[in-house]
Amino acid sequence: MATPLLELSNVVKSYEAPGGAAPLRVLDGISLRIAPGDAVAVVGPSGSGKSTLLNLMGGLDRPTEGAVTLAGRNLAALTDDELAAVRSSEVGFVFQLHHLLPQCTVLENVLIPTLAPHAPGAGDAVERASALLERAGLGGRLHHLPGQLSGGERQRVAVVRALINTPKVILADEPTGALDHASATHLADVLAGLNAEGITLVLVTHAHDIAARMSRRFELRDGALSEV
Ligand SMILES: Nc1ncnc2c1ncn2[C@@H]1O[C@H](COP(=O)(O)OP(=O)(O)O)[C@@H](O)[C@H]1O
Ligand SMILES: [Mg+2]
Repeated sequence: MATPLLELSNVVKSYEAPGGAAPLRVLDGISLRIAPGDAVAVVGPSGSGKSTLLNLMGGLDRPTEGAVTLAGRNLAALTDDELAAVRSSEVGFVFQLHHLLPQCTVLENVLIPTLAPHAPGAGDAVERASALLERAGLGGRLHHLPGQLSGGERQRVAVVRALINTPKVILADEPTGALDHASATHLADVLAGLNAEGITLVLVTHAHDIAARMSRRFELRDGALSEV
């Protein structure tokens, strides 16, 4: 494999358990290399650590042991401030719930990540946001409020928001989990289209038809990841 975009080496994540119980070892030594342009699906039972894994990949959390390297940088060696800078320029997160601000328009919501102190710079952000929204089938919704959109439309806004700082990787945590089948398929089309243009995609999903569209599939179970 060429230089991986994302590499996990023997990653362990334990959570402290309340009441002095033994810590919960959610990830038990995971190693994984993701090349630029890969489309990766992660499946696994509820509680198996999928969200934990995605959060570590994107520097939202730090491993208990092991190393995470993203775009050539060992995340463990970074200060919190440097980590925030890497997150905001290299990573786009999409969650199961869209987390749009209800009082802001679609366009304003998409522009919010450009306000982060480490963002690559607003520059032509409004133009870029409009073009991306158009491509996601939301060209007629720029000035709507989230409450005026369907669930599928709101999730597509969340994807565009994740793209606005031109990240190298999209980390999506069950992004279609709350959508009907048609909306889920439309969202998967948008994600697959972005991947076809070169963005790396890591997608946690329970939807087998969507997982089947990814170039690589992994199952997380009992703290271990296996390629399936
Ligand atoms: N911040 C936390 N503190 C303690 N335990 C946690 C924390 N986050 C997750 N867990 C536990 O870790 C396990 C994996 O959680 P998670 O990564 O959310 O799983 P999944 O996304 O696969 O459903 C669960 O048992 C959960 O209760
Ligand atoms: Mg989860």
